[in-house]
Amino acid sequence: MDAYDAIITKRDTRSYLPDPVEPELLDRVLRAARMAGSAKNAQPTRIVAVTDPDTRARLADCGDFTSWIGSPPVVLVLTCPVETGRLFDLGRMAQNIMVAAHDAGLATCPVTFQHQDRLREVLGLAADVEGPHAITLGHPGPPPEANPLRAPRIALEELVHRERW
Ligand SMILES: Cc1cc2nc3c(=O)[nH]c(=O)nc-3n(C[C@H](O)[C@H](O)[C@H](O)COP(=O)(O)O)c2cc1C
Repeated sequence: MDAYDAIITKRDTRSYLPDPVEPELLDRVLRAARMAGSAKNAQPTRIVAVTDPDTRARLADCGDFTSWIGSPPVVLVLTCPVETGRLFDLGRMAQNIMVAAHDAGLATCPVTFQHQDRLREVLGLAADVEGPHAITLGHPGPPPEANPLRAPRIALEELVHRERW
């Protein structure tokens, strides 16, 4: 799969097999995360890689739309310092993870943790660190019959304003 194909064919997946992710594949994905650029190359982001089933089950309560995240065998919690709020840096890292995982035949989905107090307790995050998003990771399970969130993208003409708004 070339880079363009990996980008345009990647879809977010909430159905996973229980099989663990092979350590070499997880390592490959994490190395892709590491290479994401950051503003001024400050590299402020950190990843908490969670595979423990009890911890994964507890993470499900840290978001409003995360009831399903006990099932993927890996949850990569993306963290950054609270003060600087480096969401663009986190986003770049997230996309590297998801494209590299897709290329390796693994499924992923971004999730949001609205309840940072609970996340802090579950993961023991440092006080000056937050984890607004995570990427679930695993071998894809059977596709769901219908997924209302799997909407087509808006047309290119709607997305792009050429030269001026
Ligand atoms: C910033 C961000 C936060 C998201 N948070 C959640 C979430 O909390 N729970 C969830 O099930 N999906 C979450 N998603 C996944 C989106 O619903 C998904 O990207 C969208 O439906 C497009 O999916 P597709 O690429 O398969 O078409 C999130 C996606 C993004 C980019």
